[in-house]
Amino acid sequence: MSPVEKHLPFPYSYADWKQRAKQAIDREAFTYVASGAGSEQTMKANEEAFNRWRLLPQVLTDVTHRDMSVSLWGQAMATPFLLAPIGMQGIVHPDGELASARAAKALGVPFIASTVSTFTLEQIASELGASPHWFQLYWSNDMDVTKSLVQRAEAAGYSAIVITVDTALLGWRERDLSTGYSPLKLGMGSANFFHDPVFREKLTKPPEVDRKAALEHLLNIVFHPGLTWGDLASLREITPLPILLKGVLHPDDASLALDCGVDGLIVSNHGGRQLDGAVAALDALQPVCDIVQNRIPVLFDSGVRRGPDVIKAIAMGADAVLLGRPYIYGLAAGGEAGVRHVLQHLISDIDVSLALTGKRTIRELNRSVIVKSNAHD
Ligand code: FNR
Repeated sequence: MSPVEKHLPFPYSYADWKQRAKQAIDREAFTYVASGAGSEQTMKANEEAFNRWRLLPQVLTDVTHRDMSVSLWGQAMATPFLLAPIGMQGIVHPDGELASARAAKALGVPFIASTVSTFTLEQIASELGASPHWFQLYWSNDMDVTKSLVQRAEAAGYSAIVITVDTALLGWRERDLSTGYSPLKLGMGSANFFHDPVFREKLTKPPEVDRKAALEHLLNIVFHPGLTWGDLASLREITPLPILLKGVLHPDDASLALDCGVDGLIVSNHGGRQLDGAVAALDALQPVCDIVQNRIPVLFDSGVRRGPDVIKAIAMGADAVLLGRPYIYGLAAGGEAGVRHVLQHLISDIDVSLALTGKRTIRELNRSVIVKSNAHD
């Protein structure tokens, strides 16, 4: 148990978790998680956007029995939220993704493992067992490596592939540039690559012998700025798993995604870490849903902090949301137990918020329960 874990009980509010995380880990790692790109305008706008919408509850609807499960492609999920792919969790806690995965499993929350995790996708999958898990793909500019990662994910039991498409290049993150800290460059996100047989074949010496050269090679191939819509078909040939695109904001891109036959979208601006000045993710949600018209699931992230945020995003048309920074602060402050508390609190908050909105199920939420607030116009 870390010194911070002794300070139980855990807090409830997001601000308190964030503060607890700040106390628990070193400044560079905390800054890496907490910061956004540029002036952080978009990062702040993500949370502010939720304040511009208010819930319009209905009363006397008998909410004794409630159910917060949702269904994606006919598969039931116990909660209307999943854990967002967050790379390099080892920078905030030694057990990293393994601790988060254990907490997710304990509460039945689906887990999305990042390509640049501290542990391998196989290690994470073995913690999760039968608990639902998806794999997030950074599509490498080396197609052989990309193919190998996807095939390994499929073999390890991941049931969907999330391609992150808002990272043609890494965002201009001023605060990280100031601290000079880059966990990717330090090799914190290298496990999946260094254990990959195809990646290893391309090195003159294995990573155990020449780590520096292996890391350099990884940094050269991890992003793929040349990726286009036309490339998506090649992934479809490799895997029968559902393919989602994460990081879509423009309604025209939603149309293109439908044309390409993708199976789901995640409306997201990467928590404001990529394009500073980009639209708040919540403001992009309704236009995307209007294009998609329920033909494929639309998920949402960037700024989800509390139960009412989940209710608002789903009422606008999302099928489910992804939780990002809040669970990482839980991990930093208290390891597996910290994540478990964050998730348990969110589950309870969603349950209460659903009931007080006058609904029994997530399915019943629609745009009639949200109104734009005049206060901020
Ligand atoms: C991320 N995110 C991210 N996304 C992704 O597709 N692959 C990744 O490896 C990571 N890594 C990552 C690290 C850290 C420290 C953060 C904070 C975020 C983005 C993540 O999946 C999600 O889109 C955002 O976290 C949503 O914003 P909020 O709600 O956390 O502010």
